[in-house]
Amino acid sequence: MKQIILVVGATGMLGEPVARQLEKDGYVVRVFARNIEKAKAKLGASFEYVRGDVEEPSSLEKAVKGCFGVHISLKGGPKAEAFDRIEHRGTVNISAVSSKLGVQRITYLSGASVSEENSWFPAAKAKLQAESAIQGSGVPYTIFRATHFMESLPLAVKGNRAFVIGRQPYPVHWLAAGDYARMVSKSFGLPAAANKRFFVYGPQSLTMMEALKKYCSIVHPKARVSTMPIWAMSLIGMVSFNPELRFIAELMGFFEKVRETGDPSEANRLLGAPTTTLDQWCSSRRKQA
Ligand SMILES: NC(=O)c1ccc[n+]([C@@H]2O[C@H](COP(=O)([O-])OP(=O)(O)OC[C@H]3O[C@@H](n4cnc5c(N)ncnc54)[C@H](OP(=O)(O)O)[C@@H]3O)[C@@H](O)[C@H]2O)c1
Repeated sequence: MKQIILVVGATGMLGEPVARQLEKDGYVVRVFARNIEKAKAKLGASFEYVRGDVEEPSSLEKAVKGCFGVHISLKGGPKAEAFDRIEHRGTVNISAVSSKLGVQRITYLSGASVSEENSWFPAAKAKLQAESAIQGSGVPYTIFRATHFMESLPLAVKGNRAFVIGRQPYPVHWLAAGDYARMVSKSFGLPAAANKRFFVYGPQSLTMMEALKKYCSIVHPKARVSTMPIWAMSLIGMVSFNPELRFIAELMGFFEKVRETGDPSEANRLLGAPTTTLDQWCSSRRKQA
């Protein structure tokens, strides 16, 4: 019998590639979604669907029942309270139900700059607390502290303008979601990946400006790339009453101060190192456009 994996956050930018990879690798994938019609329209009919919300433990019980594994790819925010409520407390709920119903592996998407030292930032604190909840649940786990995804680059382009918000001086190892999804899927079948926290980095280290220029040169050749001060982004968010934009300004302020932490060598050895370069990813993106 095929093993069932529940994906929480499968409609999201980084949950969807994992759901598709798990299906490709022979698992039955059960999608946990707040709006099943919307999720089906996005993901198609080949998945199982269960309606639910991570804030409602009873909906989780129904979804987790019979599952071998659970993958968590949640995003809370944009206010601090909502990071805690969804990413932290939601993961507490998932972990408790998974422990009760005998789940054999939880995988969790965290971030490469999540650490005690960086927990002054609410989104990082919620992820750190979510990691602790999973680790304390007794369910074998694999935590992925992944760095910046290449999939975030298109979000910086608006028409023929592209912006790096703030100075962003530190280079990061840009990661393709497809490589990460293969690593997550492989981890479910690998006893050696149990009770591990992996750092996941792509093959090349580039600053945000270098990466965005590369992306635009291949996918949006007419776009002009420039920097926008963090205060300007914050002001736009304030005058437009847009909490998402204000959060992006805060997030960029965070990234300006923190570097990638940790060593990806164990993840690379056990799960296969990410190989997709930014050039390759951009070229495939251009073909899709
Ligand atoms: N972008 C990067 O470079 C990067 C790097 C490392 C880590 N991360 C982290 O990766 C995580 C996922 O990011 P993403 O871009 O994939 O986010 P996303 O596209 O916003 O997806 C978030 C998912 O969470 C689900 N969700 C939210 N609240 C829920 C609730 N109460 N109950 C059930 N499901 C709920 C959403 O479902 P609905 O369809 O119902 O909204 C959606 O499927 C984030 O925590 C982010 O910080 C990102």
